[in-house]
Amino acid sequence: MIDPAAYLRQSPETAARFARIKERPVILEVRGLTKSFPTGDRMHTVFEGLDLDIHRREFITVIGPSGCGKSTFLRIAAGLDEATGGVIRLNGKEVTGPGPDRGMVFQGYTLFPWLTVKANVMFGLKLKGQSTITAEENARTWIHMVGLGNFENAYPHQLSGGMKQRVAIARALANEPRILIMDEPFGALDAQTRTRMQGYLLQIWRKVDITILFITHDLDEAIHLSDRIVVLGTHPGGLREIIENPVPRPRSAAQFPSPEFLAVKARLEALIHPPASADIDEPDFLPMARMTRVADEVE
Ligand SMILES: Nc1ncnc2c1ncn2[C@@H]1O[C@H](COP(=O)(O)OP(=O)(O)OP(=O)(O)O)[C@@H](O)[C@H]1O
Ligand SMILES: [Mg+2]
Repeated sequence: MIDPAAYLRQSPETAARFARIKERPVILEVRGLTKSFPTGDRMHTVFEGLDLDIHRREFITVIGPSGCGKSTFLRIAAGLDEATGGVIRLNGKEVTGPGPDRGMVFQGYTLFPWLTVKANVMFGLKLKGQSTITAEENARTWIHMVGLGNFENAYPHQLSGGMKQRVAIARALANEPRILIMDEPFGALDAQTRTRMQGYLLQIWRKVDITILFITHDLDEAIHLSDRIVVLGTHPGGLREIIENPVPRPRSAAQFPSPEFLAVKARLEALIHPPASADIDEPDFLPMARMTRVADEVE
């Protein structure tokens, strides 16, 4: 049996970890963030009055039903889209456009197919004005960090999906951003590769001074990775809850069946998939199409 309140209970170690996180400076400050889109003659408000403080080296995951505005929020934080109201500050400075202080990794593979792994990672560094020798040295460091030292001269088409995403992470981190913004980066990978990538990401996060803002649909992934989980909703859109994840660190896949893990998962399920309202649940109201002959009854 899952104790429904167990997601709120933190061990003394976890409580102390959260106290330490809150003492760190705020890297990303979200205040009253609102986003609306015109739809026909009306405005559709995706979220309104979003407030959030993300501390240095925190791992924050945003989760919520499709269409609740997760990508929209990340795009605004990345400076790729404008808010309708409110403000995001990165390191105290208002975000008004893209910048090298943010590294991005998306679900789709975004490497340049005509460049090798090393050249892909060097690309941004050379744009920043690094000499070829320095850019090459830095690129190598990051390619090793993601475990692809033997593939620096390979082209993207010679890599698996997971390897491509590791290059994308290396490329983003090589620019030394303050925050790594990831929109469902493992969404296109098979389950096994995805679990491995989560392990890599946690290892990298432990070694590097980086704050991570991560979007996923996958509840297990959110619980496995994050310090706090931000739950967004629809109708009305906006912040539902912020959960301080009680699952102890360091994390491993062995924790998936633990009571804390299951309690957080149950809470997330309840927030994201609330029980259907009675009038929809009533079978008489559902349109039923009969696709078999009456004699073909099955159990
Ligand atoms: N450029 C746009 N113009 C109009 N509406 C938009 C635009 N971009 C997003 N929207 C709307 O904003 C809402 C949130 O979209 P968004 O892509 O942020 O959701 P999401 O939570 O990332 O969904 P998913 O989980 O499916 O990726 C949706 O209703 C979408 O239709
Ligand atoms: Mg999205």
